[in-house]
Amino acid sequence: MQKTQSREGFGSRIGAVLALAGSAVGLGNIWKFPYEAGTNGGAAFLFIYIGFIILLGLPVMLAEFIIGRRSQSNTFGAFKKLAPRTGWKNFGYLSILAATLILAFYSTVAGWTLEYVIEAIKNSFHGKSSTELSEHYNAFIEHPVKPVIYQIVFMCMTGLIILAGVKKGIEKYTKLMMPLLFVLIVAMCIRSTTLEGASKGIKFLFTPDFSVITGKTILSALGQAFFSLSVGMGTVLTYASYIGKKENLTNISFQVILADTLIAILAGIAIFPAVFAFGIAPDSGPGLVFLTLPNVFQHMPGGYFWGITFFILLSVAALTSSISLLEVIVAYLTEEKKMKRKTATIITTTGITALGILCTLSYGPLKDFTIWGKTTFENFDFISSKILLPLGGILISIFVGWKMLKKYVYDELSNDGKYKLPIFDTFIFIIRFIAPLCILAIFVNELT
Ligand code: PHE
Repeated sequence: MQKTQSREGFGSRIGAVLALAGSAVGLGNIWKFPYEAGTNGGAAFLFIYIGFIILLGLPVMLAEFIIGRRSQSNTFGAFKKLAPRTGWKNFGYLSILAATLILAFYSTVAGWTLEYVIEAIKNSFHGKSSTELSEHYNAFIEHPVKPVIYQIVFMCMTGLIILAGVKKGIEKYTKLMMPLLFVLIVAMCIRSTTLEGASKGIKFLFTPDFSVITGKTILSALGQAFFSLSVGMGTVLTYASYIGKKENLTNISFQVILADTLIAILAGIAIFPAVFAFGIAPDSGPGLVFLTLPNVFQHMPGGYFWGITFFILLSVAALTSSISLLEVIVAYLTEEKKMKRKTATIITTTGITALGILCTLSYGPLKDFTIWGKTTFENFDFISSKILLPLGGILISIFVGWKMLKKYVYDELSNDGKYKLPIFDTFIFIIRFIAPLCILAIFVNELT
């Protein structure tokens, strides 16, 4: 029973696309992208980010697709099958470590989102000035108990969906949410760009000043590109193992990347004009979305309902990403360690929640507990997004570029020659040379 369940595939093509898009679109687009752009110079960051999505994100995503679907296995099993008796299976450790660290800090912010749902329902933002909203936010994230409770609730929701299994759990929640989220963000963009003083925000987001670029900006843009697409640590690989042999992987990746990038840019358009209109600092950091959007809702007709719907959808978007992280570990434990899905889910959810609490408290009682000058939250974010994902990207590229037979790579991408692949040679060139060397150069430049 449990065996068939863990190898159950996506029910339909649209289901697979939506599940992958659900993984990609999340807090990374709406919470992380705006504040990373805000602290890293705005437009210049956006342009580099888009460049990385096309040049590195897309090829690495395709490479993960190839490994996952060909092996029909988790992040350990895949390499065991495709490169037996080599050290490659240790990629699985990187993948589990990254999933754990990301989910730990991700659930902190997802918890904040849940609390904003409740606050929106209680109409607590109503009539508050920008400064009052910011005080409200700070008081909440610093609280020693409240954000922890929201985080636990969020992790329980994630665990419950994973328990329901891939098809019932993952597909269902994404189908309705994605289109709705899109419509809502477009509406918010319209309101935000018509605020008085909005043009400064548009300029900030779209008129690049490349003189502000440093090694740090470039590494941040790379990390953000991978984080937002969910690539570099085996999430796409794991989901791809559930995709049917008939699906066209190149098409799916184009659709997912387009949806993900569009939503990030729209989130920027919804946020930056408001940031300037309401006098918020664009480099406010992780609080940026929470400080800005409640102001926007207050200036929208029917803002009460917009606010509630937005934070609900954002929570669901976070949920469809967090389940994809948990699934990486649960797939490993059920397939490699022969654990029951239920046991694996409970153990993983509990462990990550415990670590996650440390991240949440990084804004409150553990504020001064720092290692390398960073709080636990900041360290988990830094190590996963800026080290593990790019490193994973290098390994995945090398594996598909150099280790796998070129014929297998071609067969998998073209479904045994059924689809034409005009970009195949370019893809191989990027995956062999450009991706590993480029990522390495960015690393060396920044970390030395
Ligand atoms: N891509 C997700 C987001 O943008 C986060 C994520 C990263 C999910 C890595 C899975 C793996 O919110």
